[in-house]
Amino acid sequence: MSALLQLQNIHKAYDGLRVLDDVSLSLAPGEIVSLLGPSGCGKSTLLRIAAGLDQDFSGALEFNPLLQFGRGTGIGVVFQEPRLMPWLNVAQNVSFADGWIADEKWVQQLLRDVGLSGHADALPKKLSGGQAQRAAIARGLYGKPHVLLLDEPFSAVDAFTRMKLQDLLSELAERYEIAVLLVTHDLDEAFYLSDRVLILGGTPSRLQRELAVPLARPRDRRSAELAYLRGEALTELYQSHAI
Ligand SMILES: Nc1ncnc2c1ncn2[C@@H]1O[C@H](COP(=O)(O)OP(=O)(O)O)[C@@H](O)[C@H]1O
Ligand SMILES: [Mg+2]
Repeated sequence: MSALLQLQNIHKAYDGLRVLDDVSLSLAPGEIVSLLGPSGCGKSTLLRIAAGLDQDFSGALEFNPLLQFGRGTGIGVVFQEPRLMPWLNVAQNVSFADGWIADEKWVQQLLRDVGLSGHADALPKKLSGGQAQRAAIARGLYGKPHVLLLDEPFSAVDAFTRMKLQDLLSELAERYEIAVLLVTHDLDEAFYLSDRVLILGGTPSRLQRELAVPLARPRDRRSAELAYLRGEALTELYQSHAI
Protein backbone atom coordinates (compact mmCIF):
# COMPACT_ATOMS: atom_id res chain seq x y z
CA MET A 1 0.00 0.00 0.00
CA SER A 2 1.56 3.29 -1.02
CA ALA A 3 -1.12 5.45 0.62
CA LEU A 4 -0.47 6.49 4.22
CA LEU A 5 -4.01 5.80 5.17
CA GLN A 6 -6.92 4.35 3.33
CA LEU A 7 -10.60 4.27 4.16
CA GLN A 8 -12.55 1.77 2.11
CA ASN A 9 -16.31 1.55 1.77
CA ILE A 10 -17.01 3.13 5.11
CA HIS A 11 -20.57 2.92 6.43
CA LYS A 12 -21.43 4.54 9.71
CA ALA A 13 -24.65 4.89 11.66
CA TYR A 14 -25.43 6.39 15.08
CA ASP A 15 -28.26 4.49 16.81
CA GLY A 16 -29.65 3.33 13.47
CA LEU A 17 -29.34 6.76 11.86
CA ARG A 18 -27.14 6.33 8.78
CA VAL A 19 -24.56 9.07 8.47
CA LEU A 20 -21.92 7.80 6.02
CA ASP A 21 -22.71 5.61 3.05
CA ASP A 22 -19.91 3.79 1.27
CA VAL A 23 -17.24 6.47 1.58
CA SER A 24 -13.72 5.67 0.40
CA LEU A 25 -10.69 7.90 0.47
CA SER A 26 -6.95 7.66 0.65
CA LEU A 27 -4.14 9.96 1.58
CA ALA A 28 -0.78 9.72 -0.21
CA PRO A 29 2.54 10.88 1.27
CA GLY A 30 2.90 14.65 1.07
CA GLU A 31 -0.67 15.20 -0.07
CA ILE A 32 -3.06 17.80 1.31
CA VAL A 33 -6.67 16.68 0.96
CA SER A 34 -9.66 18.68 2.13
CA LEU A 35 -13.07 17.39 3.00
CA LEU A 36 -15.92 19.81 2.36
CA GLY A 37 -19.61 19.40 3.05
CA PRO A 38 -22.59 20.92 4.81
CA SER A 39 -22.81 20.96 8.58
CA GLY A 40 -23.91 17.61 9.98
CA CYS A 41 -22.92 15.61 6.90
CA GLY A 42 -20.42 13.48 8.77
CA LYS A 43 -17.07 15.21 8.22
CA SER A 44 -16.00 14.98 11.85
CA THR A 45 -17.27 11.44 12.03
CA LEU A 46 -15.11 10.49 9.06
CA LEU A 47 -12.08 12.25 10.52
CA ARG A 48 -12.46 10.45 13.86
CA ILE A 49 -12.68 7.15 11.99
CA ALA A 50 -9.52 8.03 10.02
CA ALA A 51 -7.75 8.89 13.29
CA GLY A 52 -8.65 5.51 14.75
CA LEU A 53 -10.69 7.27 17.47
CA ASP A 54 -14.00 5.69 16.42
CA GLN A 55 -13.94 1.99 15.66
CA ASP A 56 -17.68 1.48 15.45
CA PHE A 57 -18.13 1.43 11.67
CA SER A 58 -18.21 -1.00 8.81
CA GLY A 59 -15.66 -0.97 6.02
CA ALA A 60 -11.90 -1.01 6.19
CA LEU A 61 -9.35 1.39 7.64
CA GLU A 62 -5.76 0.65 6.69
CA PHE A 63 -2.67 2.40 7.92
CA ASN A 64 0.63 2.22 6.07
CA PRO A 65 3.23 0.35 8.21
CA LEU A 66 5.37 3.50 7.91
CA LEU A 67 3.08 5.15 10.45
CA GLN A 68 4.28 2.77 13.13
CA PHE A 69 7.84 4.03 13.03
CA GLY A 70 8.86 6.91 15.21
CA ARG A 71 7.00 8.24 18.18
CA GLY A 72 3.32 7.97 18.88
CA THR A 73 0.80 6.71 16.38
CA GLY A 74 2.23 8.49 13.34
CA ILE A 75 -0.94 10.57 13.24
CA GLY A 76 -1.41 14.02 14.77
CA VAL A 77 -4.83 15.53 15.33
CA VAL A 78 -5.91 19.17 15.63
CA PHE A 79 -9.49 20.00 16.59
CA GLN A 80 -11.64 23.08 16.13
CA GLU A 81 -11.04 24.20 19.71
CA PRO A 82 -7.39 24.19 20.85
CA ARG A 83 -8.20 21.85 23.79
CA LEU A 84 -5.20 23.07 25.81
CA MET A 85 -4.89 22.02 29.42
CA PRO A 86 -5.48 25.25 31.38
CA TRP A 87 -3.10 24.30 34.21
CA LEU A 88 -0.14 23.56 31.90
CA ASN A 89 1.94 26.22 30.20
CA VAL A 90 2.31 26.36 26.44
CA ALA A 91 5.50 24.27 26.29
CA GLN A 92 3.98 21.63 28.57
CA ASN A 93 0.83 21.56 26.50
CA VAL A 94 2.83 20.93 23.33
CA SER A 95 4.53 17.87 24.81
CA PHE A 96 1.53 16.69 26.76
CA ALA A 97 0.99 13.04 25.96
CA ASP A 98 0.74 9.94 28.06
CA GLY A 99 4.01 8.23 28.71
CA TRP A 100 6.27 10.46 26.66
CA ILE A 101 9.19 12.26 28.13
CA ALA A 102 9.18 15.87 27.03
CA ASP A 103 11.80 16.53 24.38
CA GLU A 104 12.67 20.11 25.30
CA LYS A 105 14.66 20.87 22.17
CA TRP A 106 11.90 19.66 19.91
CA VAL A 107 9.30 21.62 21.86
CA GLN A 108 11.41 24.77 21.45
CA GLN A 109 11.82 24.11 17.74
CA LEU A 110 8.07 23.65 17.30
CA LEU A 111 7.32 26.80 19.28
CA ARG A 112 9.70 28.68 16.99
CA ASP A 113 8.02 27.11 13.96
CA VAL A 114 4.58 28.30 15.03
CA GLY A 115 5.80 31.73 16.24
CA LEU A 116 5.26 31.14 19.95
CA SER A 117 8.84 31.11 21.26
CA GLY A 118 8.15 33.99 23.59
CA HIS A 119 5.11 32.26 25.08
CA ALA A 120 6.60 28.94 26.22
CA ASP A 121 5.91 29.69 29.89
CA ALA A 122 2.53 31.35 29.39
CA LEU A 123 -0.69 29.70 30.51
CA PRO A 124 -3.31 29.14 27.78
CA LYS A 125 -5.62 31.84 29.15
CA LYS A 126 -3.00 34.45 28.20
CA LEU A 127 -3.12 33.45 24.52
CA SER A 128 -5.28 34.89 21.75
CA GLY A 129 -7.46 32.48 19.78
CA GLY A 130 -4.93 32.37 16.96
CA GLN A 131 -2.01 31.77 19.36
CA ALA A 132 -3.90 28.99 21.11
CA GLN A 133 -4.51 27.30 17.78
CA ARG A 134 -0.80 27.66 16.93
CA ALA A 135 -0.04 25.84 20.18
CA ALA A 136 -2.52 23.14 19.18
CA ILE A 137 -0.76 22.75 15.83
CA ALA A 138 2.62 22.45 17.59
CA ARG A 139 1.11 19.78 19.86
CA GLY A 140 -0.24 17.96 16.79
CA LEU A 141 3.30 17.90 15.37
CA TYR A 142 5.05 16.90 18.59
CA GLY A 143 4.82 13.15 17.88
CA LYS A 144 6.53 13.69 14.49
CA PRO A 145 3.52 12.39 12.62
CA HIS A 146 3.44 11.39 8.97
CA VAL A 147 -0.22 12.38 8.83
CA LEU A 148 -1.97 15.37 10.36
CA LEU A 149 -5.75 15.32 10.64
CA LEU A 150 -7.44 18.67 11.28
CA ASP A 151 -11.12 19.27 12.00
CA GLU A 152 -12.12 22.84 11.11
CA PRO A 153 -9.01 24.08 12.91
CA PHE A 154 -9.28 27.74 11.94
CA SER A 155 -13.00 28.37 12.10
CA ALA A 156 -12.88 30.26 15.40
CA VAL A 157 -10.33 32.91 14.36
CA ASP A 158 -10.70 36.10 12.33
CA ALA A 159 -10.20 36.07 8.57
CA PHE A 160 -6.69 37.55 8.59
CA THR A 161 -5.39 35.24 11.32
CA ARG A 162 -6.98 32.40 9.45
CA MET A 163 -5.00 33.16 6.30
CA LYS A 164 -1.79 33.32 8.35
CA LEU A 165 -2.57 29.96 9.94
CA GLN A 166 -3.32 28.43 6.54
CA ASP A 167 0.10 29.55 5.29
CA LEU A 168 1.70 28.19 8.44
CA LEU A 169 0.03 24.81 7.98
CA SER A 170 1.11 24.64 4.35
CA GLU A 171 4.74 25.54 5.21
CA LEU A 172 5.00 23.05 8.06
CA ALA A 173 3.40 20.23 6.08
CA GLU A 174 6.02 20.77 3.40
CA ARG A 175 8.96 21.18 5.80
CA TYR A 176 8.20 18.04 7.81
CA GLU A 177 6.79 16.03 4.87
CA ILE A 178 3.44 15.51 6.48
CA ALA A 179 0.30 14.50 4.61
CA VAL A 180 -2.76 16.46 5.69
CA LEU A 181 -6.45 15.64 5.80
CA LEU A 182 -8.33 18.84 6.53
CA VAL A 183 -12.02 19.09 7.34
CA THR A 184 -13.34 22.54 6.55
CA HIS A 185 -16.49 24.29 5.41
CA ASP A 186 -14.45 27.13 3.93
CA LEU A 187 -14.13 26.83 0.15
CA ASP A 188 -11.32 29.39 -0.06
CA GLU A 189 -9.31 27.46 2.50
CA ALA A 190 -9.93 24.08 0.86
CA PHE A 191 -8.78 25.15 -2.59
CA TYR A 192 -5.94 27.38 -1.44
CA LEU A 193 -4.34 24.56 0.52
CA SER A 194 -5.25 21.28 -1.11
CA ASP A 195 -4.09 18.96 -3.85
CA ARG A 196 -7.55 17.40 -3.87
CA VAL A 197 -10.89 18.54 -2.50
CA LEU A 198 -13.52 15.94 -1.67
CA ILE A 199 -17.15 16.96 -1.33
CA LEU A 200 -19.45 15.00 0.95
CA GLY A 201 -23.21 15.34 0.71
CA GLY A 202 -26.61 13.70 0.58
CA THR A 203 -28.49 11.76 3.25
CA PRO A 204 -26.74 9.62 4.27
CA SER A 205 -23.57 11.24 2.98
CA ARG A 206 -21.60 9.90 0.08
CA LEU A 207 -18.63 11.39 -1.69
CA GLN A 208 -20.28 13.55 -4.33
CA ARG A 209 -17.28 14.86 -6.13
CA GLU A 210 -13.52 15.09 -6.12
CA LEU A 211 -11.78 18.14 -7.54
CA ALA A 212 -8.04 18.13 -8.18
CA VAL A 213 -6.13 21.39 -7.70
CA PRO A 214 -3.17 21.11 -10.05
CA LEU A 215 -1.57 24.42 -9.04
CA ALA A 216 1.95 24.91 -7.71
CA ARG A 217 2.54 26.49 -4.29
CA PRO A 218 2.70 29.15 -3.06
CA ARG A 219 -0.65 29.98 -4.62
CA ASP A 220 -2.31 33.28 -5.35
CA ARG A 221 -5.59 33.37 -3.43
CA ARG A 222 -7.06 35.63 -6.11
CA SER A 223 -6.16 33.44 -9.09
CA ALA A 224 -8.79 32.74 -11.74
CA GLU A 225 -8.08 28.99 -11.53
CA LEU A 226 -8.90 28.90 -7.82
CA ALA A 227 -12.05 30.97 -8.41
CA TYR A 228 -13.19 28.53 -11.08
CA LEU A 229 -12.68 25.51 -8.81
CA ARG A 230 -14.50 27.21 -5.92
CA GLY A 231 -17.41 27.82 -8.29
CA GLU A 232 -17.53 24.15 -9.21
CA ALA A 233 -17.56 23.15 -5.56
CA LEU A 234 -20.24 25.70 -4.73
CA THR A 235 -22.52 24.28 -7.41
CA GLU A 236 -22.02 20.80 -6.00
CA LEU A 237 -22.67 21.92 -2.43
CA TYR A 238 -25.87 23.71 -3.44
CA GLN A 239 -27.14 20.65 -5.25
CA SER A 240 -26.34 18.22 -2.48
CA HIS A 241 -27.59 20.40 0.37
CA ALA A 242 -31.11 19.30 1.20
CA ILE A 243 -32.99 22.14 2.91
N1 LIG B 1 -21.85 10.75 19.10
C1 LIG B 1 -22.92 10.91 18.30
N2 LIG B 1 -24.09 10.30 18.60
C2 LIG B 1 -25.18 10.44 17.80
N3 LIG B 1 -25.19 11.16 16.67
C3 LIG B 1 -24.05 11.79 16.33
C4 LIG B 1 -22.86 11.71 17.12
N4 LIG B 1 -21.88 12.44 16.54
C5 LIG B 1 -22.44 12.97 15.44
N5 LIG B 1 -23.74 12.59 15.31
C6 LIG B 1 -24.64 12.94 14.20
O1 LIG B 1 -24.04 12.48 13.00
C7 LIG B 1 -24.19 13.45 11.97
C8 LIG B 1 -22.82 13.85 11.46
O2 LIG B 1 -22.13 14.57 12.48
P1 LIG B 1 -20.67 15.16 12.26
O3 LIG B 1 -19.77 14.08 11.83
O4 LIG B 1 -20.32 15.89 13.50
O5 LIG B 1 -20.93 16.18 11.05
P2 LIG B 1 -20.06 17.42 10.54
O6 LIG B 1 -18.73 17.34 11.17
O7 LIG B 1 -20.04 17.27 9.05
O8 LIG B 1 -20.81 18.65 10.92
C9 LIG B 1 -25.00 14.59 12.56
O9 LIG B 1 -26.35 14.37 12.23
C10 LIG B 1 -24.77 14.45 14.04
O10 LIG B 1 -25.88 14.93 14.76
MG1 LIG C 1 -17.74 18.66 12.41
